[in-house]
Formats: sequence, structure tokens, C-alpha cells
Amino acid sequence: MFVKELRLINYRNYEALLLDVNPKLNIFVGENAQGKTNVIEAIFLCAIGKSFRTNKDLELINMSKRQSYTKVKVNKAIGDVSIEVRIDTEQKKSIRLNEMSIGKIGELLGNLNIVLFSPEDLKIVKEGPSERRRFIDIDISQIYPRYYYTLNQYNRILKQRNKLLKDSRGKAIDLDIWDQQLVEAGANIIFYRKKFIKRMGILAKLVHRKLTDEKENLEIQYLSGINIKDGDELVNIKEKLMLKLKSSLSNELRRGLTLVGPHRDDIAFKINQLDVKNFGSQGQQRTTVLSLKLAELELIKSEIGEYPVLLLDDVMSELDIKRQSYILTNLKNIQTFITTTMIDHLPLQHIKEKQIFYVSNGEISISD
Ligand SMILES: Nc1ncnc2c1ncn2[C@@H]1O[C@H](COP(=O)(O)OP(=O)(O)OP(=O)(O)O)[C@@H](O)[C@H]1O
Ligand SMILES: [Mg+2]
Repeated sequence: MFVKELRLINYRNYEALLLDVNPKLNIFVGENAQGKTNVIEAIFLCAIGKSFRTNKDLELINMSKRQSYTKVKVNKAIGDVSIEVRIDTEQKKSIRLNEMSIGKIGELLGNLNIVLFSPEDLKIVKEGPSERRRFIDIDISQIYPRYYYTLNQYNRILKQRNKLLKDSRGKAIDLDIWDQQLVEAGANIIFYRKKFIKRMGILAKLVHRKLTDEKENLEIQYLSGINIKDGDELVNIKEKLMLKLKSSLSNELRRGLTLVGPHRDDIAFKINQLDVKNFGSQGQQRTTVLSLKLAELELIKSEIGEYPVLLLDDVMSELDIKRQSYILTNLKNIQTFITTTMIDHLPLQHIKEKQIFYVSNGEISISD
């Protein structure tokens, strides 16, 4: 799939913008603070329903205005899809899909599939488990919108169960009904994550090998507090989760908190058997994330039959020329948006289908 057209009205530092974008490669060049990332963010907004930089939708509205509007037209195998997002200081955010209002973000997911790689993504390998869970949850939700519903459901049950535990002040309480619901949703999440990580791991290993001249072996593993095995089916995971929950109850009552479940799980990345977080160089950490993102492209393709759109915000200049060339030459069939402050160093000589946009203070021109 690819984005054909992007329209912004009063979005961040853009007052009015209408862009015809290239089905293949789009490069946004400009100095700092001109509005390059804002373009990527707007595309992300249309795909996921919110920004990757803030949870406060109102920040997206141009400071001197009261409403912002973002629209993309997407070319897909099934035909064109239009997505509009309106954010208003006075009203609830409104999202329209092919001119029809939709009630829930879950209905939006999967209409425009994207893979974003921004400097923030280094957190996936460098920081705590919640970053890794966030990454995997966004990815799976895009492919299986049902996962997104289950996740929301799980979080709701978890919140209530935690409140009960906290309010009990250490006294025994009956949590059976909550446990059943928690296990039902939680086991599904673990099952999907485990399956997803396994496939992602195989693809990422292949890409990582190519990116490192066969020198590095990347392994990705889902780490769950309930000791799941490769062959475990959903029922086995449910049983294990329930058992663990029951055996943790006294601890949980004391701490006033749910201590087992997918909200405590993690993902491990290893290169040649060493943990990337603690032992990887900056370059290895960056390449690991790049391998992950490139694997994600293939995974989405195999699930939905089309490549997603790739958004690379400010990451090219941090990669060496070999990795840059790999991206530009191997991803020719994938629509890619790149932002950069310098274009001269990009190995673009052999790339014919491309559009370069010059970004300056919320305006975009196509020649220097
Ligand atoms: N709600 C808003 N209203 C008006 N302007 C905004 C708003 N939010 C952000 N901006 C402006 O947008 C600009 C930043 O845009 P963006 O993050 O896209 O920059 P960039 O070109 O990616 O820069 P860099 O190279 O530093 O990453 C800043 O000038 C900022 O003041
Ligand atoms: Mg930027």
C-alpha cells in the first residue's frame, strides 16, 4: 500500500498543506525545527489514531487555532481508502474512514499499516520492559485489531483487580471472578505475543545477518513470568497463568498489586548470545532496532498481503553508508518517508523514483 496524498490544516506548524507524495521514496529535507517530523507524525496519526510523540491530542493543533485536520489518501490492493482525523479544542477527536465516522480506534487500525523507525525507538533495546511491551503491542494491534480490544480489556480488568488488592489492605479477599477474566484476556495476549515474537525473530535474524556480513546472530525471545514452552497452546497458557496467579495471591495481597501476567513480561535481544541492552555497542543497538523494523515490514506483508508504509524519522544519518544503502536499495517496493537535515550524504545515485521535499517553517517546496 502507499499514501497518495496528504493534507494538513492547522496541524502543528502547518496552516495548510496539500502534498502529492511519491509511491516509492519521499525525502523531507530541512533544518531543525522546520516541520519534518510533523509530516511523519501526521501520517502516523492517520494510521494509529494518535501521535507517537505525545498523548495529548490538543498539542497537535496549531497554537493559534482551535481545530486541526489531517487527511491521507491511501492506495491499497482493495482500492483507495481515505482517512481523516479532526482534533478540536471543544469536541472529541473525530476519525473518518472513507467519509464515514468511526467510533473506536480499533476500527481504524489496519487501514493504513505503517512501520515507524525514529530515534526514540532505541528505547526498545536500551530501556525498561514497558518500552518493549509498547512496541510489540502497537505492532500486533495493527495486524490483529482484535488484539487491541483484548489488550484494552485486560488493562481494565487489571486496574480493577489492582484496586481491590490495594483496598483489601492485606486481608484475604475473593478474586475468583476477576482472576478468570484476567486469565482469559491475559493468556490471549501472551499467546499472540509469543507467536509474533517467534516469527519476528526468524525474520529479524535473517536481516541482521545481511546487515552485518553474516557476523552477528540476533536472537529475540519473549520472556514471560509463567514459564511458557514453544509448543504451548492457548489452554496451556491459561492453566499456567491461573496457577501462577493463585500461588502469588498472598504476595499480591501484601503488595496490593497484580504481580503476574503480560503486563510484567519482557522481550530479550541477544547478539551472539550476549544481551544487546547491557553488552551491545550503540551501533549494534541501532542495527538491532533496524533489523526489527525491517522484519516487521516482512511480517506485515506476509499477514496482510501488502507491504506497509515505512517512516524513517531522523535515523538515516546515524546509520553507516552500508546500512543506508541497504535500506535504499532493498526497499524499493516499499513506500518510504525519510526525514533528514542533510541530503548530500545519502546514497541516492541509483534511486530513480523519488521525490525530495524541502521543508522550511511549516511550508514545503519541491525545489530548493
Ligand atoms: N501545536 C503547534 N503549533 C505551532 N507550531 C508547532 C506546534 N507544535 C510544534 N510546533 C513547531 O513545529 C516545529 C517542530 O517541528 P518538527 O518536530 O517537525 O521539526 P523537524 O523539522 O523534525 O526538526 P528536527 O530536525 O529538529 O527534528 C517547531 O518549530 C515547533 O515550534
Ligand atoms: Mg524531527
